[in-house]
Amino acid sequence: MTNPRWTAVDQYVTDLLVPDDEALSAALADSAAAGLPEIAVAPNQGKLLHLLARTQGARKILEIGTLGGYSTIWLARALPADGRLITLEYDPAHAEVARANIARAGLDGLVEVRTGAALDSLPEIGAEGAGPFDLVFVDADKANNPRYVEWALKLSRPGTLIVVDNVVRDGRVATEHPDDPAVTGIREMFDLIAREPRLDATAFQTVGTKGHDGLLLARVVE
Ligand code: SAH
Ligand code: DHB
Ligand code: MG
Repeated sequence: MTNPRWTAVDQYVTDLLVPDDEALSAALADSAAAGLPEIAVAPNQGKLLHLLARTQGARKILEIGTLGGYSTIWLARALPADGRLITLEYDPAHAEVARANIARAGLDGLVEVRTGAALDSLPEIGAEGAGPFDLVFVDADKANNPRYVEWALKLSRPGTLIVVDNVVRDGRVATEHPDDPAVTGIREMFDLIAREPRLDATAFQTVGTKGHDGLLLARVVE
């Protein structure tokens, strides 16, 4: 569900503050041409991820849910030359599109797209000692959000920022007994974060080209 005024405001902000960019628009075009669902973050949200990563001074970023690599490119562009981003994607066809988009953006030296179920990859990443990550972006299957936040915390350090996309879902997050496992997963994640003394968090609603949804930000306490 979207609304012409929300879309007009996204257009206004994006025209002024999020300039057109060949690698990003080609990433979206090739994702659509390959039949991927058109659910990447909006340009102004991608820019938010980029600014958050910059503000964090992030050198290591973990992303759960790659799709065609659009949010990956925004995040990876915040990294220094010796930085690293690992992004986890279940669907090999999505991962293939993402790898090509990331290479065209000139970021293949910094980014690893790891194919497989994130809950299988996360323990491997832990065992490899690839962390701690400075920023974790959670944007995959929403039913597993509680597990993803637990893993994000395991792979974190004090000061790590955890960002979770799609935590409002047209307001359905406020339904006490949702019938949708995605919404149940989001609510379990909220309960877990509320009980977790190592996380200091907020969430806010967003409207725009992606409808009515929201983002959660959680900082690992010092
Ligand atoms: N972050 C992307 C959008 C991700 S869409 C962007 O904003 O540009 C969610 C992605 O998560 C999809 O590509 C989907 O295939 C992937 N996904 C779903 N279940 C998954 C799982 N169990 N492990 C890893 N990725 C998963
Ligand atoms: C969906 C997933 C997303 O990550 C998103 O940003 C929007 C929609 C979905 O699965 O419908
Ligand atoms: Mg999303």
